[in-house]
Amino acid sequence: MTTGTDGVVHLRAGGVSLVVETGGGLPRIVHWGEDLGDLDPSSVRAVATSSVPPVVSGPVDEVVPLAVLPEAHRGWLGTPGLSGHRRGRHFAPAFVTAAVEAQTSDGGAQRLVTHARDDDAALSLTVTIELAPSGLVSLDAALTNDHPTEPYQLDALLLALPVPTLATEIVDFTGRHLRERSPQRHRFTQGTHLRENRRGRTGADATTLLLAGTPSFSFESGEVWGVHVAWSGNHRTLAERSAEGQGVLAGGELLLPGELELAPGETYTSPTVYGAWGRGLNALSWRFHEYLRARPGHPSARRPVLLNTWEAVYFHQDVDALTQLADVAADVGIERFVLDDGWFRGRRDDTAGLGDWYVDTDVWPQGLHPLVERVRERGMQFGLWFEPEMVNPDSDLARAHPEWILGPGPSLPPEARHQQVLDLADPDAFAYVLGRLDAVISEYDVDFVKWDHNRDLVAPGRGPRRTAGTHEQTLAVYRLVDTLRERHPRLEIESCSSGGARVDLGILQRTDRVWASDSIDALERQHIERWTRLLLPPELVGSHIGSAWAAATGRTHELEMRAGTAFFGSLGIERDLRHADAEERAALQAWIALYQQHQELLHTGRFHTVDHGDPSLHVHGVVAQDQAEAIYSFVAVATSEYARPGLVRLPGLDPDVSYDVRPVPLAARVEKFMGFTAPPWWADGITLPGSVLSRHGVQIPALFPERLTMVHVQRATAVAR
Ligand code: DGJ
Repeated sequence: MTTGTDGVVHLRAGGVSLVVETGGGLPRIVHWGEDLGDLDPSSVRAVATSSVPPVVSGPVDEVVPLAVLPEAHRGWLGTPGLSGHRRGRHFAPAFVTAAVEAQTSDGGAQRLVTHARDDDAALSLTVTIELAPSGLVSLDAALTNDHPTEPYQLDALLLALPVPTLATEIVDFTGRHLRERSPQRHRFTQGTHLRENRRGRTGADATTLLLAGTPSFSFESGEVWGVHVAWSGNHRTLAERSAEGQGVLAGGELLLPGELELAPGETYTSPTVYGAWGRGLNALSWRFHEYLRARPGHPSARRPVLLNTWEAVYFHQDVDALTQLADVAADVGIERFVLDDGWFRGRRDDTAGLGDWYVDTDVWPQGLHPLVERVRERGMQFGLWFEPEMVNPDSDLARAHPEWILGPGPSLPPEARHQQVLDLADPDAFAYVLGRLDAVISEYDVDFVKWDHNRDLVAPGRGPRRTAGTHEQTLAVYRLVDTLRERHPRLEIESCSSGGARVDLGILQRTDRVWASDSIDALERQHIERWTRLLLPPELVGSHIGSAWAAATGRTHELEMRAGTAFFGSLGIERDLRHADAEERAALQAWIALYQQHQELLHTGRFHTVDHGDPSLHVHGVVAQDQAEAIYSFVAVATSEYARPGLVRLPGLDPDVSYDVRPVPLAARVEKFMGFTAPPWWADGITLPGSVLSRHGVQIPALFPERLTMVHVQRATAVAR
């Protein structure tokens, strides 16, 4: 960190520079992007000076700076950083910086903490700007109502990062149940491109990242800036460009009317807004991946391969059937057996039972013990499904405590999947849910919880006045997860929400995996996981091999396609293996063994999504950090307009090192059709320098649609000259 004169600070890490001007009003980011090199203090000051724009006619007579929390009182007429008031007063606070602290975290992140106040408005604000070693930027704010008697009504707090004029395109994401994370590309024009989420959960349609970049930016080309709001409740993410030419990416929590009134002395803490810059989307994603992997609690590279019972048996739970399934699972190499929905009282289908977290003795006369014992005898961990925030009106819990259900008033919100949402901010409801989860987890020494959340929050009123409660609910859920983890330090948790509707770095601060989608169709997964991986490294993305026929789409895929797709995530199986014949079991066993063999590479290496000119071919791979080996996959996601895939590059390798390239035997397909052959090198492999593989590429076999092949690349013994 270099401090220039007059409070300009230069933070550098991971190929990124952040130049921040402090003092006077709130901190302003002058440069966010490529590393500017080792600047001396006067050059750091000069960066800020050279970035001050000229005054022009039209707006106010001075230059309006874009603060990290954009300040309306200075003349910022775009979306303000702070919206709030005290019965109409103090709607545009003028913060003055009182102190700036430069810190370095234990993990090596550089941090600037700015303390600012507006004495007249009786508000104080702490803004933290951090640059992690990976080059990931994070912004946080805490707003305190200093007034001795009057509350402060907070309507919004947004944190902003600047983007230059050369960012002319936006990519954001939408989605739905069974098809999460669909990208949409637009021109970045003047005005506000606003993505709002009022679902009370992150949302299948959440824009996991909002990206702005140079024309046609792609995985490997262009310059791109992106933000993510680390929050599992309502949130807002926006890209804005003013008539004065200022580009902004911003985000924060979305507060419902009247939701947040700060009492005297009370503090609101914003969700973290993350910002990543990269030359290409891959580089941007590595900043997130490396940041997440550096966390002390990041799951180790030995992710147990799991079997989840949902698509195996759905609600048809039966001790004998599931014990047999556990046996077959162990035989094929499963390491964690997860019992999904349907084990608790009254839960024979999705119309009843949620909230009654007691094992249903009609189905499990001796509790889950016989199954859990068998699972453990066979050397597997035991996982269990819960949906802690939810209640079916047809449940003992709802009958006993109708007052614990979130809703706007006397009438309840419309049901979704026959369920309502419990008010976890109610201390009694919280204590009940915590008590039941804790009891079941303790009784069976559960290793893994699949934590589901299957509906949006509609008009979530709470308390005697039935005021908006999403903010409190989100914090209560975090508290619940945190408390359970304190009590059960070994417990792992998967964040599931009708599939991938709770994928954000707020929940991932306290969970170990996300379930990316309820669609296990391998073709759909190719798209869903490609974009989920922008934010998350593969080890955090639950990815399962389903049965040949995909329940979510009715498509059929061969095992290679299903397994070769799930291979690039946190692997699991979701299929009734009792009905798999010996050949299929052996093939699954081989895939699991292959995954285990390469897990270290897959879960610590760099993920490369490759720009191949033909959109019908997905090419991606993982390259070891030391570039000694890599695995790449080639997937035909549609029929191509070309007869052959053409040369396919394998990026990320050391240009000066020679590599052996060989098809992975389990996925070395050559289509048998009218004289199709593999390229000549395919049978015996080939040795080529990294420069050739990364820059020129190799020919691969032509593929029928929805088929894949894979190659393993290993440093050859002799060094290329
Ligand atoms: C939705 C989840 O995404 C599924 O995997 C499954 O757990 C069901 N809920 C169970 O109700």
